[in-house]
Amino acid sequence: MGELDSAFIQDIEHRPNLKSTEPVNDGIPTIDLSALTLADTHKLASEIGLACQEWGFFQIINHGVPLDLQRKVEKVAREFFELPSEEKRKVRRNEVNPLGYYESEHTKNVRDWKELFDFLVKDKIMIPASPETDDKELRTITNQWPQYPPEFREVFQEYAKEVEKLAFKLLELIALSLGLPENRFSGYFNGQTTSIRINYYPPCPFPHLALGVGRHKDAGVLTILAQDDVAGLQVKRKSDGEWITVKPTPNAYIVNVGDVFQVWSNEKYQSVEHRVVVNTVKERLSIPFFVQPGPHVMVKPVVELLNGENRPKYKEYNWGKFFVNRSRSDFKKLKVENIQI
Ligand code: SIN
Ligand code: FE2
Repeated sequence: MGELDSAFIQDIEHRPNLKSTEPVNDGIPTIDLSALTLADTHKLASEIGLACQEWGFFQIINHGVPLDLQRKVEKVAREFFELPSEEKRKVRRNEVNPLGYYESEHTKNVRDWKELFDFLVKDKIMIPASPETDDKELRTITNQWPQYPPEFREVFQEYAKEVEKLAFKLLELIALSLGLPENRFSGYFNGQTTSIRINYYPPCPFPHLALGVGRHKDAGVLTILAQDDVAGLQVKRKSDGEWITVKPTPNAYIVNVGDVFQVWSNEKYQSVEHRVVVNTVKERLSIPFFVQPGPHVMVKPVVELLNGENRPKYKEYNWGKFFVNRSRSDFKKLKVENIQI
C-alpha cells in the first residue's frame, strides 16, 4: 500500500471513527408517500414537519419515481464513470462552464475521494455574470452531455423530470407543515438553478484518513438523495451531535433540509451537517438532486411566520449571487447577530 496524497488527509478531529460506523436506520424518520394518494395530506405534512424539526433529514419510500428508471440511471452512471479518463474529460467542467465532469473536488480545502458529474434540471439557465455584478447582468450556462453511454442524456433528463415532480410535492407538504398555503414556495422556482450531481466514490485504501465528501451542509432548499446499497453517508444527529451512518434502504431516498429552508422557516427547520465515509472494498454511487431557487429570488424568512417573538434571524440575500459565489462563511455572515450595523 502506497501513501495517501496529503491533499486528501483530513485533520485529526474530522477523521471518521471507523469502529463506530455500523450503519443504522432506527429512529431515522421514514415517510411513506403512498399516503398522498389517500388524501391524507395533512397527516403526512405533520410527519414531515416533525422530521424536519427534530432531524433535518428523513427517508421517503413509495415516492413515485419509477423503479426501472432508477435502475437505468444507476446503470448509465456507472458506465460513464467506468470510461477511460480521456473520454470523461471531454465533458470536464471548465472556467466558463461549471457543469459536467469533475475529476476532483475539495470540501473545506481538503480533497474529496470521489469523481462527479453535475447537470441542471433545466438544461440551460441564467446566472449572475459574476458575484460582484448586479444580478441584472446575467450569463447563460448549459449542460454538457457525454457521448457515451449513448442513452445517458435521455435517461437522466427523464429522471430529472420525475424527481422534480417529487420535489414539488415535498415543497407543498413542507409548506403545509409550516401552516402555509401549499403553493407558498412555488413562485420561487422560475428559472430554477436546481441541479443533479452524480457522485462516484472508488474504493479507498485509507478510509481512516480520507472522506468521500468532507463535512458540509447543503446550501439549497432541499436535497433528495438516491444512493446504491453501499453505506457511506453519515449525518450529524441533531439530538446528540453523534455522526451516524445511514443504512441504505432499497428504493428509498434521503431528503435533507438545506440552508434556504433554514432561512425561510427562520430556523424552525435546520440544515444538517453530513459527510461521506469511504471503504477499502466497494465503490459507491450516490445521486443528489439539489432543489434550488431561480437566480432572482431574494431569500429571507417567510413573513407570515414572523411576529414579535419570532423576529427574522437572517438578512435577505440574492440566491443567484450566492449560487455563483457560495461558501459556508458567506452563509454564516447572513445571521442577524453577525451583521455589523
Ligand atoms: C453529498 O452530501 O454531497 C453526498 C451525499 C452522499 O454521497 O451520500
Ligand atoms: Fe450534501
